[in-house]
Amino acid sequence: MEFLILFLLLAVSLCSISFFYLLRASRHRRLRLPPGNLGLPLIGETLQLISAYKTENPEPFIDERVKRFGPIFTTHVFGEPTVFSADPETNRFILQNEGKLFECSYPSSISNLLGKHSLLLMKGNLHKRMHSLTMSFANSSIIRDHLLDDIDRLIRLNMESWTDRVFLMEEAKKITFELAVKQLMSFDPGEWTESLRKEYVLLIEGFFTVPLPLFSTTYRRAIKARTKVAEALGLIVRQRRKQREAGDEKKDMLAALLAGDDGFSDEQIVDFLLALLVAGYETTSTIMTLAVKFLTETPVALAQLKEEHDHIRADKRESRKALEWSDYKSMPFTQCVVNETLRLANIISGVFRRAMTDIHIKGYTIPKGWKVFGSFRAVHLEHEHFKEARSFNPWRWQNNSSSPNVFTPFGGGPRLCPGYELARVELSVFLHHFVTQFSWVPAEDDKLLFFPTTRTQKRYPINLKRRYKCGEAL
Ligand code: HEM
Repeated sequence: MEFLILFLLLAVSLCSISFFYLLRASRHRRLRLPPGNLGLPLIGETLQLISAYKTENPEPFIDERVKRFGPIFTTHVFGEPTVFSADPETNRFILQNEGKLFECSYPSSISNLLGKHSLLLMKGNLHKRMHSLTMSFANSSIIRDHLLDDIDRLIRLNMESWTDRVFLMEEAKKITFELAVKQLMSFDPGEWTESLRKEYVLLIEGFFTVPLPLFSTTYRRAIKARTKVAEALGLIVRQRRKQREAGDEKKDMLAALLAGDDGFSDEQIVDFLLALLVAGYETTSTIMTLAVKFLTETPVALAQLKEEHDHIRADKRESRKALEWSDYKSMPFTQCVVNETLRLANIISGVFRRAMTDIHIKGYTIPKGWKVFGSFRAVHLEHEHFKEARSFNPWRWQNNSSSPNVFTPFGGGPRLCPGYELARVELSVFLHHFVTQFSWVPAEDDKLLFFPTTRTQKRYPINLKRRYKCGEAL
């Protein structure tokens, strides 16, 4: 009897699973979903995705599926059916239709930790207003007239304290964090910034965990860190409100938020600042580190870059002044190196969105509510768009005629990265001081990894020698 019940249960389960798959396959055909594989119930192809990106190969998950199904395919990752696009036109369509056909959609671990008033999660008119406010605080003329001096000064200050062996990734993170704190709230580096940064490290670690405090120590730690960061920022916001009432005005992002017509609450301002600090911190510092790694592995490019910067430095021999806007504008090869690092390293590999309605594209339907991932990295690493796409070749940018759809490291459309120019300036100034002040060799072999984010396994340890004393001419 027991055997019969067991047999019946097994038969019912098998029938239900087959029925589920048949139903899904028939809906698949009816809707003309992009081809693909939804994998196992619930987990889909998540494990394949994670294990693929833990290797050194930059795009194994997408490469394999593009070969089988073409540049738009269906999969099922992180608990949801998802359409992946490795097609530049489709990616452009996704970016341009933000807020009309698609809306941004972050995993709940990230949205919980960022807070609902962060720019990355805002929608509609408020997003439009705050996006343009952020753009106006980081545009070329603000950088030229106000931010460049601090960028130059803080980068030099950091490099002065380096010993003969550093973990470049750590140093670069410290630099970008200090720059962001200065630009957002006019705070110079000190113990306060460093202890805030330590909490940030814990907070960001929580982005890629299961957002269940009971199951994940990392997530619990991240929530605690978020509370501490919010308290610290909240205190600054309250102090600055008082100073403003007393007529003491500063010229930074926080001042713009306090002066805005919207009458933002402290909580709104804290969420907003907290997310801006995240957005420019890991991204820019990773590109700084990887530019150095790629240059180290490509000595001819490094020699050409050094020549460009030694020339700028030599011109400054008399005055020994900080870098000026005209110096930044006379770094053509540096811009090639920055572009090539952004293309090859792709710290933001693409964007997740959610379809707001059934969307018809390229003969397929993306059903309402489905997730979509527009992969920039897949396009950037495709030989059809970039010759020998997987090797570091900064010279390709000297006569570049690639369309803007194809190279999108900063996204596009209404959510175009508002920090794109700022990041370029920070990267260029960093490279200038790095190559003019130091010669270096890697202290250990270090691998590039792509999960959960693009980074090197050992934080890129290097041995340094000073080429000249800080402040001295070459
Ligand atoms: C190499 C450095 C950087 C890269 C590669 C990068 C890349 C990106 C990308 C691809 C997006 C679009 C995300 C989407 O569409 O969902 C984005 C958005 C954003 N970035 Fe950057 N970023 C960098 C540096 C910065 C810096 C320095 C800031 C500081 C101001 C910044 C602030 C932001 C913000 C606030 C958003 C959200 C915009 C919105 O949702 O409206 N980023 N970034």
